[in-house]
Amino acid sequence: MTPQQASVETRNVCELAPVVPVLVVENAGIAAPLAAALISGGLPALEVTLRTKAAIDVIREMAAVEGGVVGAGTLLTSQDVEQAKEAGARFGVSPGATDRLIDACVANELPLLPGSATATEAMYLLERGYSMQKFFPAEANGGAPALKAIGAPIPQVTFCPTGGVSLKNIKDYLALSNTACVGGSWVAPKELVAAKDWDGITALAKEAAALPR
Ligand code: 3PG
Repeated sequence: MTPQQASVETRNVCELAPVVPVLVVENAGIAAPLAAALISGGLPALEVTLRTKAAIDVIREMAAVEGGVVGAGTLLTSQDVEQAKEAGARFGVSPGATDRLIDACVANELPLLPGSATATEAMYLLERGYSMQKFFPAEANGGAPALKAIGAPIPQVTFCPTGGVSLKNIKDYLALSNTACVGGSWVAPKELVAAKDWDGITALAKEAAALPR
C-alpha cells in the first residue's frame, strides 16, 4: 500500500465521526465492552495506543467487535507496525514519522496516519505521499490558530489534531477547512473505564458524535 493509498484509507477513517477516541487500556478483559460502548455511541474509529503491555491483546479483542475500525497508536518502530497488523489493526497512528516507520507501514500494508507538528514536517510527509496527517501535540503547538496558519500555504494536507483536544476547544478545530476529525482521550476517562461505566462512556461518545463538522 502506497502512502497515497494509505491517506485515502485514513481519510475515510477520519470521516467516520468527529472524534477518534485515543485509548490507553491496561486490561484486555475490558477491551470488548469498552469498544462496544464507544461504537454504540457513534464513534466507530478507535485508536489503541501501544503504551501498555496489554495493548496488542486489546487491539485483537477490539478488532473482533462488530461495527468498529480499530487502529494502533503510538507506533514508533517496525516491530510495533508488525505486531499491530498481526493483531488486526486496520490503521496506524504515530506521534511523528521516520523513514523506517513509513517503510514498515508500506511493507506491512498498514495505512499510516503520521504525525507532524510544523510546516516542514507537513511538507516532508506530503512529499512522501501523505495528504492526511495527525497534528500533534495540537494544543501545545498553538492549537487551532496554528493549524489554520499551516493550512494557508499547505491546503493539500488534511489533519486530525490530537493532544489536548477536549469539548472546550474541539469546535475551533472542527471549524477549520483542513481538519477532518480530532483525536482525544476524554471520551473514555480512566475513572469511567475503571468503574466499567459503559453507559457513561456511550453518553460521552454520543455527545462527541453529535458535534457539527
Ligand atoms: C495522547 O498523547 O495520548 C493523545 O494525543 C491524546 O491526547 P489527550 O489525552 O490530550 O486527548
